[in-house]
Formats: sequence, structure tokens, C-alpha cells
Amino acid sequence: MISMINKNRILITTPIYYVNDKPHIGHAYTTLAADVLARFFRTQGKEVFFLTGTDEHGSKIAESAEKMGKSPKQLCNENSQLYKEAWRNLNVKYDYFTRTTDKKHEKAVKKFVEQLKEKGAIYERNYEGLYCIGCEKFLISQELINGLCLYHKTKPQKISEKNYFFQLKNYLKKVEKAIINNKLEIQPFSAKQEVLGLFKQNLDDFSISRQKERVKWGIEVPFDSEQTIYVWIDALVNYISAIGYGNNIKEFKKWWDDSYAIHLLGRDILKFHAIYWPAMLIAGGIKLPDQEFIHGFFTINNQKMSKTLGNVIDPNKLLDKFGADAARYLLLSQFPFGSDGNIQETKFEEQYNSNLANGLGNLIERTFALLRKYNYKAHPLKSATKEFENNFKKHEEEYYYCMNNLDLFKALENAFSLTREIDKYINKKKPWSIPLDKSKEINTILTNLLSGLSKIVVFLEPFIPSKLDLVKKRINEGDFSKINLFPRIVK
Ligand code: MSP
Repeated sequence: MISMINKNRILITTPIYYVNDKPHIGHAYTTLAADVLARFFRTQGKEVFFLTGTDEHGSKIAESAEKMGKSPKQLCNENSQLYKEAWRNLNVKYDYFTRTTDKKHEKAVKKFVEQLKEKGAIYERNYEGLYCIGCEKFLISQELINGLCLYHKTKPQKISEKNYFFQLKNYLKKVEKAIINNKLEIQPFSAKQEVLGLFKQNLDDFSISRQKERVKWGIEVPFDSEQTIYVWIDALVNYISAIGYGNNIKEFKKWWDDSYAIHLLGRDILKFHAIYWPAMLIAGGIKLPDQEFIHGFFTINNQKMSKTLGNVIDPNKLLDKFGADAARYLLLSQFPFGSDGNIQETKFEEQYNSNLANGLGNLIERTFALLRKYNYKAHPLKSATKEFENNFKKHEEEYYYCMNNLDLFKALENAFSLTREIDKYINKKKPWSIPLDKSKEINTILTNLLSGLSKIVVFLEPFIPSKLDLVKKRINEGDFSKINLFPRIVK
């Protein structure tokens, strides 16, 4: 069990997404997970700050803009808007959307770099290396196959220039220790092992600036107008610039020093988050985040999702077909949150019909129909029988354990297995076969049913917020009129 349970204030972040392209379901996956957790922790009475945004500087963005015949700023404005729209359509309720081209952020990044310099963690050096624009980083030999970038299959640029470097090597021992001791908790365990393995590689100091004549689209190094700040430094600082760093000390203390900070991310950017970021924070004398949860990467029909393969799924496509609530559920229920997995688009419909239309939706309408039939009075609220409650205790314990440990997949499975059990309870008790003169017996069954259904609503509301909010309202008002939440999709 992780320690966040004892904290009353939680900061949850997603990576900030590159605006060279529009959002796809990979971005939606992380953002939805953060939204579900933010909603869940709020129901637990915690104060939550949920942060997301867009990463808008660097060569990758500048090149894309040029290809499209736009200015970088125009591309950033258009595409960051697409992210905001996608999150709005998916009912994602973030507290702040960082844009790295915002003045407030730029000021904070400059301050961060100055702080590193003051602490003596930065030096100048001539450097020659192979730079991949897709990754926005210099590649090491393990990242090259036949001279091509392992991830992007493109030829990296040979770059030789004078840059400012961060003394990573001086902080590696401290970062490693923090990870081993769980001062910085890396979850799941497999990701922690992977990071600890990285310390055995020859990790070198890295450049934190680029020559302005090569990379114009970036934040100027405060003490050298010929250099721009490396896009990854710029991006990582978003986690603190958004909550007051370099701008509002009180806010920063509240949301960084006095909160439990969780970064959610995919394993593609593990090294930046679990090694570079903590090392820079230690150098700057700033607290570490408390947890980094590295979720898996998914493939589409067993292939990497990529523009070239033409298999990128736009979240809006899922929204049009299934609506926000179902799209949220479908994306998060495919495979365990910390593992890699595969998505088969054709399976979405099948799963929608079996779990939402015939499963949850049907149980809600079935229960409402019985409450209607017997004209059940929901008020004053009655308690379920001890026996009924006891049967479902283990679900409750497991659900909260899973959610507190960010195991969204298992928490969902648990809630759906409770749905099936309550369905079975109705089949077993057959209230319709009980003579009407035994109204007390019928009433007890209905009370149990309503209490079971209310539990499911609480469990699933962070995942399926708007439809279950409606169910909650109906239950509170004792309005059990017909409800068809997830109409079956027929081909
Ligand atoms: N801009 C950097 C992050 C800077 S954070 C300080 C970046 N952006 S990105 O647009 O490429 O987004 C990467 C993130 O998107 C992944 O870490 C992951 O959270 C999410 N995903 C992108 N594709 C994904 C899958 N195929 N599967 C799961 N998540 C995916 O890297």
C-alpha cells in the first residue's frame, strides 16, 4: 500500500503533449486515467490539483509548422485547442492546462535554469552527437539500429555545437537512492526495475541548451542570448510552473511541498522523468515528486499506433460512436494500467454491448423496474440487511485498495463483477414470484438491491461520470421511471 493515503492534498499530472499533431487515444488514455483518479480522490475528501497541457517548443514543432506553411505559434494555438476540445468532449475536468508558450511558464523555466546555474550544476562544453528530432534528444548507441533511431526509424542529425550542460553525474547516486528507498516511488515494480537498470548504463551529463541559430523556437537561456533552453527542460518545468514556481511562493508550497505529487506517464518518457527530472530537482534544492506511475503502451491490432501505418485512432471517433462515458470506460478497461496491451477496435462494440448495455445499463433498468412495480419508497433511506452487506464487503475493500494503488483496471473489473453478482441476487430472490401479502420480504429485497446499486454507482462514477451522476440524482429523488442509459448498438 502506498503512502498517499495519509495525505490530504494530491497533485496529479499527465505529460504535456506535443502539438505537432492532434490528440489520439494514447494521449486520451493517460489523461482519462488522471481524470478518474482526480475524481476518485475528491470523493475521498482530498484536495486535488489535476494538471495537463501541451508541449509547444522545439525543432519538432517548428518543422511541422514549416511543412504546413504556418508559424509555430499558429500551429501551437490551433493544436492546443484540439487537445482542450478533446478533453472537454471526454468530460475531463482538469484544474489547469499548461501551455509552454505562456509567459508565466517561460518566466519559471528561466528561473529554474538560473537556479541550476547558481547551484553550480551547469557548465559549458563543446558537444558532438546524433540528434533525433522525433525524440527531441541526442541518441546513445543503444538507441541506434543501423544508424537509424530505434523509435522513429529515421536518420538522426549529426550536431556539433557549444552548449550548456547539466552535471547529471553528480546527482545520480542521490536519485538512485531516492528510488530504492521509495522516497520517489516508481510504480509499477517492473518500471522501478527498469529505471534501476538504467543507472548501470553509462549515463552522461546532458545538454540543457541548443544554439539559437539552429533552434529558434524556444525559450532563451537567461544568461546567453545565443542559446535556447532544451525543450525537455522547458517541458518538465511545467509540473512546477503551473502551481506557482517562480511566480507564487505560497501556491507552490501548497501544491508541491505540502502535497503528494503523482506524475502519470507512458514508459516512452521514463528516463526523462525518473532520472533527469529528479536529478535537476535535487540540484535546484527542490523536493522530489512522491510517485511516478508508468503505464503501459498500447498497440492497435498488435501494431504500433502510427501515422505512417494509418492506424491512429482519434478519440472523437470513439466519442461519436459511443459517447463520452462509454468511450472513457472502453479505453480504461482494455488491459491493466501498468502493463502494455493491445486494442482491437472491433472489440469495442462487443464490449460495449455486453458490459454496458446488457451489464450495467440493464441492471440499473432492471432494478428501477422492480422499484417502480412495487412503488418502492426510497425515503426515508433504509439500510440493507447485514447478510447482504457482508457479501459485498470484499468488493468494497478490493475496490478502495485498487484505486488507492492506481490499479484502475482491477477496480473496474471489481465493480463489474459486483454488477453481475447483484444481477444474480435478483435471479435468485425472484421478488416477482413472492406473494404480495409478503410485502416485507419484497421490501427487504428491494432495499438490498437499491443499496447494492448505489454502491456500484459510487465505484463507477469517476469512470462514467455523467450517466452515473444522473442515476445518483434519480435515486436521491426516488424517481425510478424508465431509464435507458446504454442503448444496445446493432449493426
Ligand atoms: N511532450 C512530451 C512529454 C513531456 S512531459 C514533461 C511527449 N509528448 S507526447 O505527445 O509524445 O506524449 C507522450 C505520452 O502520451 C506518453 O508518455 C503516454 O502518456 C501517451 N501515449 C502516447 N501514445 C501512447 C500509446 N500508444 N499508449 C499509451 N500511451 C500513449 O512525450
